[in-house]
Parts: sequence; C-alpha cells; structure tokens
Amino acid sequence: MPSSAEVLAGKLRIDDLEPQGRRVLLRADLNLPVQDGVVTDMTRVTAMLPTLRTLLAAGAAVVVMSHRGRPNGETPEEFSMAPVAEAMRLVLGHEVILLEDCIGDKVETAVQALVPGDVALLENLRCHPGETANDAEFACRLASLADLYVDDAFGAVHRAHASIIGVPPLVEVAAAGHLLELEVQMLSRCLDEPAKPFVLVAGGAKVSDKLDALANLMPLVDRLIIGGAMANTVLTYQGIDMGNSRIEEDAIELAAVLLECAELNGVEILLPYDFVVAADLGDAASARVVRQIPATTMVFDIGPESIERFASAIADAQTVLWNGPMGVFEIDELAGGTQGIGSAIADVAGRGGISIVGGGDTAAAVSAAGLSSSMTHVSTGGGATLDLLSGSVLPGIVALTDR
Ligand code: 3PG
Repeated sequence: MPSSAEVLAGKLRIDDLEPQGRRVLLRADLNLPVQDGVVTDMTRVTAMLPTLRTLLAAGAAVVVMSHRGRPNGETPEEFSMAPVAEAMRLVLGHEVILLEDCIGDKVETAVQALVPGDVALLENLRCHPGETANDAEFACRLASLADLYVDDAFGAVHRAHASIIGVPPLVEVAAAGHLLELEVQMLSRCLDEPAKPFVLVAGGAKVSDKLDALANLMPLVDRLIIGGAMANTVLTYQGIDMGNSRIEEDAIELAAVLLECAELNGVEILLPYDFVVAADLGDAASARVVRQIPATTMVFDIGPESIERFASAIADAQTVLWNGPMGVFEIDELAGGTQGIGSAIADVAGRGGISIVGGGDTAAAVSAAGLSSSMTHVSTGGGATLDLLSGSVLPGIVALTDR
C-alpha cells in the first residue's frame, strides 16, 4: 500500500493552480478552542496563513470553510464560527466576511459578489448533518460556491466528510495547500528512514488511541519512552499497584500487545521510576514525589528521577517523535515532567536533530512551555497525525486531483 506522502506526491499542489480572478474554496481546520466567545489558541489560524496569503496574492477571492466542535447537525450559537472570523481578522490583518450559513441561496448570492482579494468564512459545516454523512447534495451545494478547491485542513484530512472527500471531485481542480503538504512531509520523516537513534515518546491518557500508530512505528524505533496516564495502564499490566490512578481498564491487554511489539522489534522500553502523586487534582498544591504509590493517591506526573533518565535516553537521538504529555501540564505543580521532557526534545532540534511533536494536547503543552519554535515541527493534527503515523492513507489526500 502506498504511503500518504506517496499518494500526495501524485496530486496537484496549490502552486499548480492559476487562481487569478477565480473563486477558491479553502478547506481549513479551524476547529479552535474558544472560551467566553474568544479563541484561546491561534496556532491553526497562523498555520493556514501561507495558503491563504498565496491565494490572495495570486488574485483569488477565497471562501474558507471549516467545522468547529461536534454540533451533530444542530446550529446552537456555541458552535458558531464568529470567534474564528474575529481570530482570522486579527491574525490576517484583513477583513473576513462571516456568512450566515455554509450553503443556501443567501450564501450563494454573497459568494458571487466577492471580488479578488476578498475573504469570506462559511458558518460551521457540521451544523448540517450532510457534512459528516458525506451527503452528495450537501457536497454539491458547497462545490457550487467556487471554481477551485484547496485542502489545507490537515487536522481533518482523516475524516471522510463532504467538505473533505465529497467536494474535490465536483470542482474543476482540487489541490493540496501548503500546510497539508508540510505536515505530510514532516511527519513522514518519522516513517521514511528516520535518522537514528530514533526515540519515540508516548504519553497522554489512552493506549487504545495510539496503539496502531505506535505499533506501526516499532520496527523503526530504537527507544520507546512511555509516560503520562498511558504509563499507568502499562505499569498496571506489569503488576505495579498504581493506587487510585487513572487506568484505561479495557486497554490493559493492549498494553501487553504494545510491549510485545516493542520487544519483538528489539526496542528499548523506558517507563517511569518515580511519580508525582496527590489525593486528587484539587489537592495539587500538596503533591509529592514517591517511588511506591500510596493506595489513596493518584499519579499526576512523572518524578525527577524519571525526567533525568528519560532526558538522557533522548540526549543522543537524531529523531524524536513526541505524542502525549507526561502529566497534567495545565497545573504548575504537575507540569515538571512535560516541561523537562519538552526541553530535552527541544535540545535535539537545537543540535541539528529532528524533533516532531504531534497531537493537540502535546502541541498545547509545548506552546505553554514556550518551546514551539524550538521544535523542528509541531503538528496541528490530533487524530489525523495518529492516522498518518499508523500508515493509513488519509482519505482527504486520495480525493485531490491527480497531477
Ligand atoms: C481536530 O481537532 O482534531 C480536528 O479538527 C478533527 O476534529 P474531529 O475529531 O471532531 O473530527
């Protein structure tokens, strides 16, 4: 089976288009975190700017479309794209016309009135059930809004939804945007003869979400470091008493599969030796470091000895891939593990190696630690990143126009 990178190499790219005087439908992933009506993380807006700017500089009128959240076909205000339009105005420094829906007569009239240099944003695609159902009529109405289509929604390219796979065959030409290309190219560096030693750092909550990607990477990896709540499940499988810690009960057998897969491939496995524990999250101020976990406590971070051992296992790496925080990085007292490992991974890039960060939580942790610009690449994808790393060919890439 060809890889996503190989399939993408056979598809049209944004630079192949002649968008001057044309209307371009740009699928972006603007599924942004919003608090009190304001976007709290601009990363995905900044990441799609090169594509948007390329289209505007070439004289196109651009109609941006995205989903936000999972409104399941309803149209509650909390899922509106209004905060996203405001974020785009700020970052782009350009007017963004927010349309009242994503399909319909009024939207079609507004889009026809756009002139080169205009940017319009459609309302949340998922407020219509046709989006996730990949409904043909819904895709047709979206496609009728433009002549050309560009997919820059890396974070959603694993979804077989109307705006991702339904629209491309219905427009004149569908091409990959700069972000989509960059993401596939950077993540593929972990799959395509990665520079050795290659260290994989896995954390976060669930073994089950990551098993396919981790298993696919095992033949390429030299060391596997496991932290975060995921380590709780693996250590439980190994017979260690994790006290009251969060365990993925129905994934204990998957932990066994992961360890076996690592062993079969001769991968060195590193698990935490010491832990930061507290009675519960509300008790973080009295968190302490232990080696044996008291029955009444929960693990919320890896301890200093683990940080040191993990960091020295990363020190000589030429490639590091990091997916999943080591602890509850949002709380200062429980952020030490994620910060310590983040710094060790940033050092890899600092001395000429490759450091790739994937997954929404990990990207947020890296950003909170002020390390984003020290990494070789921080992916904007969550599920899409894992699907690509698991070796799947992403459906949104297959849907684009062949060269
Ligand atoms: C994401 O935030 O990972 C993407 O926007 C995909 O969102 P979804 O998991 O709701 O499809």
